[in-house]
Amino acid sequence: MPKQKILILDTTLRDGEQTPGVNLNLSEKLEIARLLEKLGADVIEAGFPAASQGDFDAVKAVAYTVKCGVAALARCVPGDIERAWEAVKHGEKPRLHVFIATSEIHMRHKLRMTRGQVLRSAVESVKLAKSFCGDVEFSCEDASRSDPAFLYEILAAVIDAGAGTVNIPDTVGYSMPGEFGALIRGIRENVHNIGKAVVSVHCHNDLGLAVANTISAIQNGAAQVETTINGLGERAGNCSMEELIMGITTRGDNFDITHGINTTRIYRTSVRTAHLTGVPISVNKAIVGANAFAHESGIHQHGVLANPMTYEIMTPDSVGKTESSLVLGKLSGRHAFADKLESMGYSLSQEVMGTAFVEFKSLADRKKTVTDEDLEAIVSHHLNSAPELYKLDAFQIQSGNRIHAMASVTLLHDDELLTEAAMGDGPIDAAYNAVIRIVGGDWPLVSYDIKAVTGGMDAQGEVTVRVRHGGQTHTGRGLSTDIIEASVLAYVNAINRGYDRR
Ligand code: KIV
Ligand code: ZN
Repeated sequence: MPKQKILILDTTLRDGEQTPGVNLNLSEKLEIARLLEKLGADVIEAGFPAASQGDFDAVKAVAYTVKCGVAALARCVPGDIERAWEAVKHGEKPRLHVFIATSEIHMRHKLRMTRGQVLRSAVESVKLAKSFCGDVEFSCEDASRSDPAFLYEILAAVIDAGAGTVNIPDTVGYSMPGEFGALIRGIRENVHNIGKAVVSVHCHNDLGLAVANTISAIQNGAAQVETTINGLGERAGNCSMEELIMGITTRGDNFDITHGINTTRIYRTSVRTAHLTGVPISVNKAIVGANAFAHESGIHQHGVLANPMTYEIMTPDSVGKTESSLVLGKLSGRHAFADKLESMGYSLSQEVMGTAFVEFKSLADRKKTVTDEDLEAIVSHHLNSAPELYKLDAFQIQSGNRIHAMASVTLLHDDELLTEAAMGDGPIDAAYNAVIRIVGGDWPLVSYDIKAVTGGMDAQGEVTVRVRHGGQTHTGRGLSTDIIEASVLAYVNAINRGYDRR
């Protein structure tokens, strides 16, 4: 008998966007949606349209853009469901996803509703959603801490009301794998009409068990899993798509299922998502971390050279982490540059290609070889950039261990060059103070991260900053072989993005 295909609902754009500090703009969400579609996600949960106009617009744009399923989340509230439908209805495969909490603690303290009220609200909401949309998913929030008997009752009722998928979230990442698998088995054995619905799971990672719990659920009959790229999501995040998929792929002997994910696109999707969200991938992250396929000890290196399978249970190629043989340098022309980017999976507009090429040439003048990582970084900085209300023209720094740092910064704004100078606690603080003097307002720094794009003394520094403005967090990125320039570029980029959102 052919193996059944497990459905992947990716919620990077909804739960993943709830990662503290992540605030994606429309073009970034569209880029992630396209990556997810190419990766092979069956359904993309694109957002929560009732939450804000920005979420509504993003869900609508994603529904217009991709051909796979697009889900919009809604509470069991008529206004939410209507708004969610307005956002997804033009999609090729729209889905409405309604949820309500079913655990005693949530019902009593958050919803202030009785079991009967929750049950009626769930049924009415599923019926309303079904009157708009043929594909309705229902979630029992905090299912893993709910009374199983109540779960069986509410699930049977929403399936009768028209839910085609019933999702069982481990909302607070509390379950243990054996327990969660038993919960799924119990649902399959005790909900009389469960055969009419797809059983789905949605696991959070508070105890580091999201992938293990999802695997246990699959082994107990879950037919849809909800994941995010890089495990992004509320608090400690959600089940990481790349870890789950490579687990199922590498240890297929443990599963009766297949999946539709093109694993060779995993690495690219993960790296772009990290860039766009500003949440870096830790070096020891399974599958996509920089060390995931690195072998340090002599014994391991010897083993891998003799036979890679001694220490590699999967190949870097299988997740799309390939070593490039085509290296670019300062003599490379526009054609070689365009060919290279195409081979890396980028199809850029003429305009972006033009500006990226100029930046590549200037980098190639400073660096012997320009690596794939350098190119990724350059292209990332040109895609999805906010309109440049302010553009860095020049800066000068005076700094040392016995003097107060001083910076003078010139920004181009409305065809006018604006210059200010300021002191600070170090060169970057001084430069940021000068920038604030030019742009005005309050732009406090929430976080500052710097990393070298590649190894070596001539490596580019990539700075990611988060600033607070107008009650929101805005992420900015800057790239340069000069780390102070990268820092100022990142700060100005965050400010431009802050203005872009208002
Ligand atoms: O974690 C959760 O319970 C959720 C639901 C809304 C599906 O994200
Ligand atoms: Zn969640």
